[in-house]
This record gives sequence, structure tokens and C-alpha cells, in this order.
Amino acid sequence: MKKFARIVGTGSYLPPRIITNSELEKTLDTTDEWITSRTGIKERRVVNGESTCDLALEASKRALEMAEMSASEIDLIILATTTPDKIFPATATMLQNQIGATCPAFDLQAVCAGFVFALTTAQQYIENGAANNVLVVGSETYSRIIDWSDRSTAILFGDGAGAVVLSSNNSTGIMYSKILSDGRYLSSLHVNNNYINETGTIEMAGNEVYKIAVNRLSELAEETLKDCNMTSDDLTWMVPHQANIRIISAVAKRIKLPMSKVVLTIEKHGNTSAASIPLALDVAVRDGRIKKGDNLLFEGIGGGFSWGSVLVEY
Ligand code: UT7
Repeated sequence: MKKFARIVGTGSYLPPRIITNSELEKTLDTTDEWITSRTGIKERRVVNGESTCDLALEASKRALEMAEMSASEIDLIILATTTPDKIFPATATMLQNQIGATCPAFDLQAVCAGFVFALTTAQQYIENGAANNVLVVGSETYSRIIDWSDRSTAILFGDGAGAVVLSSNNSTGIMYSKILSDGRYLSSLHVNNNYINETGTIEMAGNEVYKIAVNRLSELAEETLKDCNMTSDDLTWMVPHQANIRIISAVAKRIKLPMSKVVLTIEKHGNTSAASIPLALDVAVRDGRIKKGDNLLFEGIGGGFSWGSVLVEY
């Protein structure tokens, strides 16, 4: 009998420190009006000493609690992050230790598409019977790799973590997934070090990334619906990567999905990269918008470029 990877618990965590657009106005040549109208972002969270693992730990505890599962029941941990705490060991193994699990654990790096890539990987483990319960986490501390004097990037990103527990079952769960990469665009969006300098910061050709994001994500969203024999009418919610409200709206328009069916957290979270989808998912699960049986479309694109979509019956 076919096995499906079903989401049985969600959790998220945001560090308490908030940076509003008004605060950024004091240090950058920017305005709240420019940031809000161009991106949809009003504020973002940043760490104050917390690590990527610290954020992941809190989000994971909440997801396990919702799943009514203990860490010892987890067979695999996949942590999607662009901002690991160390070059090695994997942040996932630090999380494994701190949460009290004993299973294999590894990091996955696909930048803002990291959560979609991690879900797709976990799905393979569950569908082929190699794992029954998988903890998938997206956790980021981008505030460490932002050039806070660069107004074109400093306004966009935030820190946070989201997690899901996936469990094997015979009826429903992840129905479709697709991941893609195109490595020709390194200089469009990257961190400007090669592990040679101690740290680097984000460099982005925002306008180019914007256009590619809208085109690739729209094509993929259309293809996903077609491959699933669905139209946007069959979607209950789209839970997109929260990069820019204008990118999200353009994709929704292309697949004829009203914005009332899109989960948006960008206003308060900014772009939290691999954490943005599980953060948005957890918000909408906990406030009661997302219910069992809903059809959810996750999609996201990030540096590389790497992008992907996952269709889930929740
Ligand atoms: O997670 C995936 C990775 N990232 C993304 O998805 C980001 C994709 N790109 C974007 O979201 C948008 O391109 C941005 C929000 C980054 C920029 O918006 P835009 O509408 O593409 O603006 P632009 O880069 O074309 O810049 C327009 C103007 C420029 O000034 P001039 O040359 O017209 O005089 C910029 O220098 O806006 C200026 N500008 C700003 N002005 C005020 C750029 N950043 C700012 C700022 N405040 N923070």
C-alpha cells in the first residue's frame, strides 16, 4: 500500500527583538513608505545572541508537542538553513542533541527554497519506508549575514524558525513535489565570501531576482496544478515563501488564485528564507485558518537559483 508523508504537527519561533521600518529609517536612506509599498514588509525579528539552533529547538519542540510525539520517536531530522551555526558539525546534529533525539540528522542548503527541498527529501524517506516520522525544520539568522548599511538588502530579511513533523500514513499527505535548480545565476544573489573570509554579506541584483522569481514560480505553480489535475479553485490555501508581496501577488494572479486564499506573514516577519513557509504554515494552523483536509500549495525560490513546489493535503 502506498505510503504518504502527512504533516501531523507544526511549530514556529521568532526571536523577541523587533526592528521596524521606522527604526531602519534612522540608519538607512529609506522610508517606511518605500519599504511597505515595494515589499509589504513593516517589521522583522532579529536575534540578540540566539543561534540558528536555538530558534530551531523552540520551533521543533512546539511541532512535536502538537504531534503528541516525543523526540525519541523521530527517525530523521532535516534542517534547512543558509545560516548554520558552524561550518561543521551540521546544525541539525546540535538540534538532535538538544532536543533529545538519537536519529540521523543533516542540514540541507537550498537558500529560500530550503524548506521545500527538505520536505521533498523527507517525503522520499517516508514513501519508501526508510522512515516513519521525520522532523523538518527551516531556521535562519540572516541578521548575521546582512550588510546593515546596504538599503537594498537590509530592509528585506528577518530571523526565525518553523518546523513540521511528518508521519507515514496510508491515505493522504504530500501529494506532489518538484524541485529545480539553475546554477547560472550565482552573482545575482549570493554571499560574497568563499569560506576564505570569516564572514560575508548578501549581495543581490534585486530587480533581476524579482523578474526570475515571478516567472519561475508562476510556471511551476501552473505546472503543479496541471500535474495534479487541479485548478486554483481546488486549492484551499497557498502558503508561499514570503520574499516580497508583489512576487506573491503576481504568482497568485497568474494561477487565478484570489489573495484571500494566500497566507501572508511578510508584513511582520520579512523574508526569513528557509523558515518563511513553515512559519507562515504554523501561524495559519494555529489561528484556525488551515484545517485538516485542506489542499495547500507551498512554493519558493532562492539563491542558486533553486526553486520548488509541494502540494499537500493537510
Ligand atoms: O527570497 C528570494 C530572494 N530575494 C527576493 O526575492 C528579492 C527580489 N527582489 C525584490 O523584492 C525587489 O527587487 C526589491 C524589493 C529588492 C527592490 O524593489 P524594486 O522595485 O525592484 O526596486 P529597484 O531595485 O528597481 O530600485 C528602485 C529604486 C532605485 O533607485 P533609482 O536607481 O531608481 O534612483 C534604488 O536605488 O529604489 C532605490 N532603492 C531604495 N530606495 C529607498 C533600493 N532600495 C531602497 C530602499 N529605500 N530600501
